[in-house]
Amino acid sequence: MAFENLLIENLGAVRRITVNRPDKLNALNAQTLGELAEAFSAAGRDPSVRVLILRGAGEKAFVAGADISELAVVTPVEARDFARHGQHTMRVVETLGKPVIAQINGYALGGGMELALACHLRIASSKARLGQPEINLGVLPGFGGTQRLLRVTGRGVALELCLTGAQVDATRAYELNLVNRVVAPEELEQVTLALAEQLAASAPEGLRGILDAVVLGGEADLVTGLDYEAQAFATCAATEDMREGTRAFLERRKAVFAGK
Ligand code: COA
Repeated sequence: MAFENLLIENLGAVRRITVNRPDKLNALNAQTLGELAEAFSAAGRDPSVRVLILRGAGEKAFVAGADISELAVVTPVEARDFARHGQHTMRVVETLGKPVIAQINGYALGGGMELALACHLRIASSKARLGQPEINLGVLPGFGGTQRLLRVTGRGVALELCLTGAQVDATRAYELNLVNRVVAPEELEQVTLALAEQLAASAPEGLRGILDAVVLGGEADLVTGLDYEAQAFATCAATEDMREGTRAFLERRKAVFAGK
């Protein structure tokens, strides 16, 4: 599968997707949004892929937002469709059923922060800067940012970031729960890959159950969420990996999960 604006690499069971428009700080134009949805859907269907890393090309940015040159000329109908397109792409990432780690080297602004928030885990370089600056363009986050930010940080911080458009540095992003970990720039790639490899060695159906229970069940009422959890737990019991995991514990050895 060849993409104009993405690079795809397989590192064992880890698929790394790189948004590759460094001269535009990896801004998300419609073409890139479509490619991302396609690339993530394909990874979701491919059993050889157990974990994904998403990053941006170049030294400066993860993704510096929706492409403002496209945004500048849209009609209201096109703007609605652009927002829907972006929201769809973010939702494909969020509901993939395989862990997606955002590797944030620099700017994650606007649609870039929204994309990072659709990922399940976020590792940031100490040089990263995050924010929702859309208000400075006279609009608001349109790829789900108002909703996911609210859920991640709570209302006060979500409103502060969206209303002011202020950027936060990596330390503040960590304090606000926006990223899971902050590491030195030179360690970012290795730390992210090590985490991905750790997850790739886990039982995929267990990972999927966790993601479904938290991402999907977490949006429902408690009773429905608990049902997601119980159903996922039952599905795991149908896997060889669950037998292997429990047997390995009892035999005092390390489990090897075949993904079956
Ligand atoms: N859309 C389109 N192009 C973008 C972009 C975006 N969101 N963000 C950066 N670019 C482009 C710039 O236009 C520039 O292109 P050019 O060299 O052809 O002029 C190139 O990327 C480099 O950006 P530049 O602004 O020169 O880099 P900088 O280091 O001075 O500033 C930022 C970096 C991130 C602070 C600045 O680019 C910025 O504010 N970008 C927009 C962020 C934003 O508002 N995102 C939300 C969009 S809804």
